[in-house]
Amino acid sequence: MRRSLSRFSVSLPTDLLRQLDAMAVARGFPNRSRALADVVRSSLVEHNAQTGAGEIAGTITLVYDHHRRGLQSALTSLQHAHQELILSVLHVHLDHANCMEVLAVRGRARSIRTLADRLAASKGMKHARLSVTATGKEFAG
Ligand code: NI
Repeated sequence: MRRSLSRFSVSLPTDLLRQLDAMAVARGFPNRSRALADVVRSSLVEHNAQTGAGEIAGTITLVYDHHRRGLQSALTSLQHAHQELILSVLHVHLDHANCMEVLAVRGRARSIRTLADRLAASKGMKHARLSVTATGKEFAG
C-alpha cells in the first residue's frame, strides 16, 4: 500500500535543526524527514501512554529475589488476575537468587500502567520498568 505523504514547512531554531540532522546521521536515517517522523511517532506513543485513553503494547521488566517470602506467589496472583493484558512471560534466572521476568503486554494504557505499578509496588521488588511502544495499528508505516 502506498503511503500518502504531506509536505509542510517547519521553522526550528537553527541549533535544534543541526542537532536533529546530527541525530539522523548518527542513527542511520536516510534523511531528515524520516528522522523527524520517528521523533513524532515516539512523542505520540508517549502521549497515548500518558493520557491513558488508547491501546498500547509494551513490556514490563521485573527483577526480584525469588527467596523473598511470598513475593513469587504475589506476582503470579497479580499476573493471573490481569491475564487479559499479558501476552507472554519470559522468566530468566539471573543468578542463584535473582530472577528477571519480562512481560509482553497489550491493552488500555491506563490498565497497563496500573498493572505495572502494582507489580512494582510488590514487597521485595528490586526493580520494575514499563517500556511502552505502539501497537502498530496507529501508524500507517
Ligand atoms: Ni528464576
